[in-house]
This record gives sequence, C-alpha cells and structure tokens, in this order.
Amino acid sequence: MRVSSGVPGFDELVQGGLLPNRLYVVSGPPGSGKTTFCSQFITDGAKNGETCVYVTMHETKEELITDMSGFDFGFDRVMQSGKIQFLNLVTENGKRTITQFGTEGGLTNRLAAFFESNDIDRAVIDSTMLLQHFMGDAADEITGFLSALKKTDTTILLISEMTDPSSYADEHYLAHGVIFFHNYLESGGMQRGVQVIKMRGTAIDCDIRRIEFGDSGLTVHPNEKVEG
Ligand SMILES: Nc1ncnc2c1ncn2[C@@H]1O[C@H](COP(=O)(O)OP(=O)(O)OP(=O)(O)O)[C@@H](O)[C@H]1O
Ligand SMILES: [Mg+2]
Repeated sequence: MRVSSGVPGFDELVQGGLLPNRLYVVSGPPGSGKTTFCSQFITDGAKNGETCVYVTMHETKEELITDMSGFDFGFDRVMQSGKIQFLNLVTENGKRTITQFGTEGGLTNRLAAFFESNDIDRAVIDSTMLLQHFMGDAADEITGFLSALKKTDTTILLISEMTDPSSYADEHYLAHGVIFFHNYLESGGMQRGVQVIKMRGTAIDCDIRRIEFGDSGLTVHPNEKVEG
C-alpha cells in the first residue's frame, strides 16, 4: 500500500505513491513549492480521515492558511475543522515552546512520542531550521532526532531549506526519500520543476518534471521533462 501525495501527477513518479511510515525530505530554494506540496499532502490525509499534524516554527496557523488561501484544494477547510493538528514550536518572542508535548526529554523524544501516542498517520515538519533552533549545530542530536522520526509509524515530510544547492545535509542521507523543487531562470522566464532525488524501495529516474501552480494548487506534469 502506498500513500498518495495529494499532488496531481506526482504519484506517477514514485510507483503510485510514498511508502508509508517513512521519512521524506522536501528541499528547494525559497518559493519553489515546498510548503504548498506539503500542505496538499496533509490535506489529502485529512480528507482520507487520517490523523494529521503540521509542525512549524515559521508561521502561525492563520498565516499558513492565508498563504494557501489562493488555492482551492481545501487546506483552509480541513485546518479550520480541526482535522489537522497544528503545532507551532516557537513563541512570538522567539522562545522555545515545546510544552505541548509534556516536559520529559528533549525535542526528539517529545515529538516522536507525540506522534506515537496520538497515532499520527501523516506529519509535516516545516522546517529543518527548526532543528537548528532547538539543537544548534549539534550534529549528533540532529542525527538522533531524524533516527527517532524514522522509527515512528508516521509518514513524515520534513522540509529542508537548501541555501547551497550543491551541498547535501545529514537529513538528505538519513531520509528514506528526497524530493527537490527547482525554481530557476531559463530563457524567457522562470522554470519550475520537481525532481525525486532518491526514494528507497522505489524505481525512480531522477529527471526534473515541470510543475505548475494553479487554482487547485501544485500540479506535476509527469510527461514533461525540463532541463536542470
Ligand atoms: N494561487 C496562488 N496562491 C499562492 N501562491 C501562489 C499561487 N500561485 C503561485 N504561487 C506562488 O507559489 C509559491 C508558493 O511557494 P511555497 O510557499 O510553497 O514555497 P516554499 O518552497 O515553501 O518557500 P519558502 O522557502 O519561502 O518557505 C509562492 O512563491 C507564490 O508566489
Ligand atoms: Mg515554505
């Protein structure tokens, strides 16, 4: 059984969907579609009656809903109806706030325990900047965090900003899959694309496919390859 991404056209790139209970990293430059992709994924889960959580430190729930309000894939409805739990890990003045999950252990244990005790089916974590906020540059701690997430019975999309597109980070190696969004200038204008860099257990070709933002959100054109 594979889990649909909720993004039209994407599942065709990965043999029909994502393998469940795995950790996927979604990377790409600013404005390339990471949050939109993940919002469609979590909305799809909520519409299927799955238990879903969106974890962020960047934005409030209201900001996220406003950002997605230009699309009509139904994010605002499922968010307002409480079908998706929303966790913002940082307070307005920048203080850490992880008391939502109790006070025992570090972020690692608490978030993984939260997923387990709430039987979370799908989760989005936006983004790895969050990890740096809680852990600084402690590589061991970040590795431990990712390993703990991989062991949960939750299908997780972890957004990882890439400031340097040529340098992969720990999360790219540790994750079961890596999805990369492109946003680059080509003769005549901006070209947007998506590339499945890795997907353990799944036959992929690593080519970049054209993506498009429309009223219904992000759509992948699986038969339209674009140059990287
Ligand atoms: N109807 C629309 N509603 C909202 N955004 C749209 C729409 N059509 C196109 N867009 C564009 O889609 C992009 C959405 O990008 P998204 O927020 O998913 O990117 P991101 O990779 O998460 O960026 P960041 O790294 O800044 O968080 C925006 O730059 C926005 O301008
Ligand atoms: Mg984003």
